[in-house]
Amino acid sequence: MKLNIAVLAGDGIGPEIMEQAIRVTKVVCQKFGHELITRTALVGAVAIDEVGNPYPDETHNLCMNSDAVLFGAIGHPRYDNDPSAKVRPEQGLLAMRKKLGLYANIRPVTIFESLLDKSPLKRDRVEGVDFVAIRELTGGIYFGQPQGRSEDGNTAFDSSVYTRLEVERILELAFQFAMKRSKRLTVVDKANVLATSRLWRQVAKEMEPHFPEVVVDYMFVDNAAMQIIQWPKKFDVMVTENMFGDILTDEASVITGSMGLLPSASIGTHTSVFEPIHGSYPQAAGKNIANPCATILSAAMMFEYAFSLMEEGALIRKAVEAAIVAGAVTEDLCEDKSKALSTSGVGDWIVDYLSK
Ligand code: IPM
Ligand code: MG
Repeated sequence: MKLNIAVLAGDGIGPEIMEQAIRVTKVVCQKFGHELITRTALVGAVAIDEVGNPYPDETHNLCMNSDAVLFGAIGHPRYDNDPSAKVRPEQGLLAMRKKLGLYANIRPVTIFESLLDKSPLKRDRVEGVDFVAIRELTGGIYFGQPQGRSEDGNTAFDSSVYTRLEVERILELAFQFAMKRSKRLTVVDKANVLATSRLWRQVAKEMEPHFPEVVVDYMFVDNAAMQIIQWPKKFDVMVTENMFGDILTDEASVITGSMGLLPSASIGTHTSVFEPIHGSYPQAAGKNIANPCATILSAAMMFEYAFSLMEEGALIRKAVEAAIVAGAVTEDLCEDKSKALSTSGVGDWIVDYLSK
């Protein structure tokens, strides 16, 4: 198969972790006889520096003309500390999501047995956790208009807006996920307060009869935040709107004890994007210490979701798991920091494993 991939490394540790993911993708392609074409483009703060736009047209065109996008990270402290900055790296990410129609962000939350003790939760709570969080990604309060300030600058407003179509397509995907898994779906909302949530709940209820085998549970977001900590095993497929999903998926990721390990897929109407869920970690940029595994696992998701190459994806996951078990990990996962491998060291180990 021919794999035409756009590589958007972005900011901070993005380039370092991406390098390892590409190496891994290359070996897997060699092993299975696929032809790999990678083309790079600018995104984020580096794109602002070079061309004044965090998601330049050229980058968008490349994404549109590729089979999949591998994405590193976005963000720079220069902008975090400057609320008056007119152009921000994060706008690039939001623009990419909107323009590629990436309405669904899929984050599997799974536990690595060998890392259970890293979890901030007690072992019995977290052992066996395995769920998928599906976050709506192109609607809600992150995109709704009007957004802004009053003329005197003393009032600010954001609008949360959802149309039936936006709600239907994400719920449809969530029901399908539930059908493929244990047929349990949790719809997270704030229907006791928000009009958008009431639309979500209404649409979900209307869809229930189309998926008679799926048991649907409706949960308020504040309760969901609590349950993720108290008894995360109760979840199998969770679906929610953009901002709730942003918050809950970060919460869900830390209970695994290894945020540096979690990948995600964003899918929608055009090319899908695969990215680690962690950020640009600017303190570590250029030091060759960041954990490349979430990006490598994002490449695994890419094989599976964008190309239906399941064996290839599974092999990458197996290699990452083997590296962790063997202690071939970066300092974030190492008790004894002197034994930690570098970013490229972990890449070497995994590439070696895959080449055997
Ligand atoms: C994420 C990120 C982004 C978001 C930021 C960078 C805009 O935190 O993918 O969760 O919150 O949507
Ligand atoms: Mg976020």
